[in-house]
Amino acid sequence: MAEVIIVADAKAAGALVADEIVGLIRHDPDVVLGLATGSTPVPVYEALPERLRGVDVSRVRGFALDEYVGIDPAHPESYRNVIRREVIEPLGLDPERIHVPNGAISTIEHAGEDYERAIAAAGGVELQILGIGTDGHIGFNEPGSSFASSTRVKTLTAQTRQDNARFFDSIDQVPMHCITQGLGTILRARHLVLLAFGEGKAEAVAGAVEGPVTASLPGSAIQLHPRVSVVVDEAAASRLQHADYYRYTYDNKPAWQGL
Ligand code: PGA
Repeated sequence: MAEVIIVADAKAAGALVADEIVGLIRHDPDVVLGLATGSTPVPVYEALPERLRGVDVSRVRGFALDEYVGIDPAHPESYRNVIRREVIEPLGLDPERIHVPNGAISTIEHAGEDYERAIAAAGGVELQILGIGTDGHIGFNEPGSSFASSTRVKTLTAQTRQDNARFFDSIDQVPMHCITQGLGTILRARHLVLLAFGEGKAEAVAGAVEGPVTASLPGSAIQLHPRVSVVVDEAAASRLQHADYYRYTYDNKPAWQGL
């Protein structure tokens, strides 16, 4: 099952996950990280630079989860730019080693397969950072996505476009389509770390961790994975039935176990 870790706030979550990532990079300078965009992973990215001082990050590799289809690559909210601004530059990573699905219309027909091949050629993702949408999506796998899906084009739900309108001038500017790693792709990563903060995510988190495994709530796919850490604040944990047990488990966690 997923290990659920309830922390005081997003900053504490960021510190916890950043420590794990730094450990991975120290252990394997070529490590392949699975990167996410949106507000959720920001505390992790913010916690990393000071922890990475003196650590060689020149060979770290990374794959982002998703990208908007047809967005102007120069648009500040294209995920290529978000990853550059929030991850590559502050952490000092090599841009050549950090990949984002290609949302250009001209190559979209084979962009999914190309991305899958690139992930496989890199040896797969070691640690995949995930957020979860209010509709339960992970990556941009909206409700109904196959658990076996690989990187492909999806249509964003009205809810997701509404949720992401805050990054654009208006909802009309939020692209209708995206290219996203599939649930099958995500499940192939060796360690999933799903973060969620705030009351607005409580229902999706409870469904993903404790609800039935169903394509109607794509986040529930994490229940099929042997190694998952769910790191949430109190508000995002507020609908979890077994929150006390998760706290008890974490308080009694053997020191030799990592995240
Ligand atoms: P958020 O989005 O981190 O901006 O809340 C999460 C998601 O849509 O996966």
